[in-house]
Amino acid sequence: MQFQWYPGHMTKARRQMQEDIKLIDLVIELVDARIPLSSRNPDIDELGRQKARLILMNKADLASEKQTAAWTEYFRKKGWFVVKLDARSRTGMKTITNVIAEACREKTERDRKRGIKNRPIRAMVVGIPNVGKSTFINTYAGKACAKTGNKPGVTKGKQWIKLNKSVELLDTPGILWPKFEDQQVGLFLALTGSIKDEILNIDELSLELIRILKENYKGVLAARYGVEEEQNPPKLLAQIAENRNCIKKGNEPDYSKAAALVIDEFRSGRLGNITLEFPHEES
Ligand code: G4P
Repeated sequence: MQFQWYPGHMTKARRQMQEDIKLIDLVIELVDARIPLSSRNPDIDELGRQKARLILMNKADLASEKQTAAWTEYFRKKGWFVVKLDARSRTGMKTITNVIAEACREKTERDRKRGIKNRPIRAMVVGIPNVGKSTFINTYAGKACAKTGNKPGVTKGKQWIKLNKSVELLDTPGILWPKFEDQQVGLFLALTGSIKDEILNIDELSLELIRILKENYKGVLAARYGVEEEQNPPKLLAQIAENRNCIKKGNEPDYSKAAALVIDEFRSGRLGNITLEFPHEES
C-alpha cells in the first residue's frame, strides 16, 4: 500500500465522515496497539462526541502485553470501551459483540422507554489507512452475513452488514487522516509500516528504532543480533551489519541492508512484542 495524503484528501475524508457519522450510534475505532496515539486522529473525538465509543487495539499480537494493558486503562479513563485484538483471527470476536451491546446499553434503554423495540444498533468502523479496518470487517462480519442493502430513510448507496439481530455495520469503513505533520507521529507511522512512502530514509528510521529498543527493551538487540547494547545507535547498526553479514562490494558494511533487516524484523514481530509509544508520555 502506498498513500500520500494531501489537504484535498483530508477535506474529502472529513466530509464523508461527517455524513456517515450521522447514521450511526457507535463508532468502532481501530488503533495500532504499538502506537495507540500516533495511529489515531483526535478529530474523531469531536466528530463522534454524541456517539458511543469502542476502541479496538488492533495488532495486539505485535505489541507489548504490558503496554497494551496500560493503554487500555488510558482509553477506559476517557469513558470508552476498549478491546484488544488481532483482526486476522476470529478469537475475541464474540467479546466484541458483547461489548457493543454494553456500549450501547443506554441507547437501547432509551429506545425501550419510548416504545421502540428491536431497533438494531448501527455502527461504523473507522481508522487510519492500514490499521486493519478491512481485515476486521471481513473477520467479524464473515461471509455468512447478508448485506441489508438500501433501506428507506437511509442515504442512498449505503450498505449495511447485518451482524446479528441487534447490530448492523456500515460496510465501508471510515478513513481517518493520519497526522503526520508531527515528526514523531510520522516516524512511528513509518516504523510500523503505515506509510510505505519514506518520510525519513531507512537508515535514520532504523537508528530511531534501535534507540527505542535500547532504552525500553533491554536485551532484545543483544539476544537477536549478538551486539553490545552499551554502544550508540550508529555503532550498534554497524555491529548488526557485521554480525548479519550485510556487506557491500569492496567488503564495506552495508548499513542500509542492516537497517532494512532490523525494521523488517520489528514489523513482522520477530524482535518480539514491542510497543513504541507509552501512555505516561502522552497523558
Ligand atoms: P485497512 O483496511 O485499515 O487499510 O487495513 P487492512 O485491513 O488492509 O490491513 C493492513 C495490513 O495489516 C494487512 O497486511 C493485514 O493483514 C494486517 N493486519 C490487520 N490486522 C492485523 C492484526 O491484528 N495483526 C497483524 N499482525 N496484522 C494485521 P498486508 O500488509 O496487506 O499484508 P500482509 O502484511 O499480511 O502480507
